Amino acid sequence: NKATMIVDKDFVIGDIDARIYGSFIEHLGRAVYGGIYEPGHPQSDENGFREDVLELINELKVPIVRYPGGNFVSGYNWEDSVGPKSERKHRLELAWRTIETNEFGFNEFVDWAKKANTEVMMAINLGTRGMDAARNILEYSNHPSGTYWSDLRREHGYEQPHGIKTWCLGNEMDGPWQIGHKTAHEYGRLAQESAKVMKWVDPTIELVACGSSNIVMPTFPEWEATVLDHTYDHVEYLSMHQYYGNREDDTPTFLARSLEMDDFIRTLIATCDYVKAKKRSKKKMMLSFDEWNVWYHSNEVDSKMDPWSIAPPQLEDVYNHEDALLVGCMLISLLKHADRVKMACIAQLVNVIAPIMTSKMGGTWRQTIFYPYMHTSVYGRGKALVPLINSPKYDSKEITDVPYLESVAVHNEELGEVTIFAVNRHLESELLFEIDLRSFGSCTLIGHTVMECDDLKAANTEQQPDRVKPHNNGNAVVDGAKVTASLVKASWNVIRLK
Ligand code: AHR
Repeated sequence: NKATMIVDKDFVIGDIDARIYGSFIEHLGRAVYGGIYEPGHPQSDENGFREDVLELINELKVPIVRYPGGNFVSGYNWEDSVGPKSERKHRLELAWRTIETNEFGFNEFVDWAKKANTEVMMAINLGTRGMDAARNILEYSNHPSGTYWSDLRREHGYEQPHGIKTWCLGNEMDGPWQIGHKTAHEYGRLAQESAKVMKWVDPTIELVACGSSNIVMPTFPEWEATVLDHTYDHVEYLSMHQYYGNREDDTPTFLARSLEMDDFIRTLIATCDYVKAKKRSKKKMMLSFDEWNVWYHSNEVDSKMDPWSIAPPQLEDVYNHEDALLVGCMLISLLKHADRVKMACIAQLVNVIAPIMTSKMGGTWRQTIFYPYMHTSVYGRGKALVPLINSPKYDSKEITDVPYLESVAVHNEELGEVTIFAVNRHLESELLFEIDLRSFGSCTLIGHTVMECDDLKAANTEQQPDRVKPHNNGNAVVDGAKVTASLVKASWNVIRLK
């Protein structure tokens, strides 16, 4: 069992935009309340922001966080969430059937993002609302002063504009589950007109139009073609969402799902370029993969939940080792498309399908998926290099020709480092991995980190927070520009070279 990979510093896929390591906080479950915000918790600051959670977020180096939804945003009245807390309205939240107290709102999130060292990707409501609310929130947020909305922000204690640069035009508007679901034409028109007025308020912003909610939507990819027909000249990004699960307990297929993700990205690039050609446009549409992850463990429990409580536990997937392997493969997929995927958000960040967990008034722990996300975010900065891979393959029940090896290399010119991320999908045997770094000359090994576990279903919990975690005893050896490693079965690997 041997796989080879050739990488050359001149064979560049593209500059990696750090924002592909973004994440997502929705007003859903315990993401906000009991997640990033828990007044009275011993680890919370004077604003109620949990500092133990912030420490873990800092380890992940999250460059951008999408907010406040998700499905939540399609019923969001942003005005409810600003101003004196005592006057904020409690509302029925129809997307997740809970009660939203609005105790934590727009300005609190901006404050939190500053403290978390991250940028805000703000979504607007194109479900129950439209261009009027869109232009108003932007004026409140980004206009300096001298108008009703900007002066209201100042009255609320924010003299300086928030300067939020990235705005999403709604969320999953193709989905029948969405509050205010629309046809592609209805959404396309609304997104176009909202984009126009938003850019009149602040021409420096960048906008994301909604693509399909996932690759199996019946309207994919016609949805994208129609939406872009309306919005191509007005937006910078098209969004993509995709979650995977292993409901059938078919791990070989599950681990191959990232090949579908590759396909999804390729099809969207083709669709964007088709509209570009049709419009004789010079602009290249970029992609924002602003929701992706594994999501299925919590579905059954969630379906039995009683409605109308405040911040109940929802979507609290407990991730195992095989989930971390697929998340690693999905991150590699994003890197392999670094030329067109410029933003991406692992969904989500805390408690809700998340790498970080908290317990009420208790501690924090890292889920298995925390590690591949952290490794790529910390070491995967620079240029993504074309991976010329030759790997033995397998056929799973649903997907054929699946390479056992999934890999990509990143060149950080500033630090003079090359990092190779690799997954061995083989569940029974190790894989000999030979890397030819030809143009890099003689390299030295910085380290080989491995995440392995005999039990694919093993997970980290509050009681056993370190059940699955990486070690630095990988066996990679370097000889000039050749690297050889034996990749343990079902493992995630990070090989760093100078
Ligand atoms: O991330 C959870 C949900 O998944 C989001 O609210 C929605 O956009 C998607 O369906």
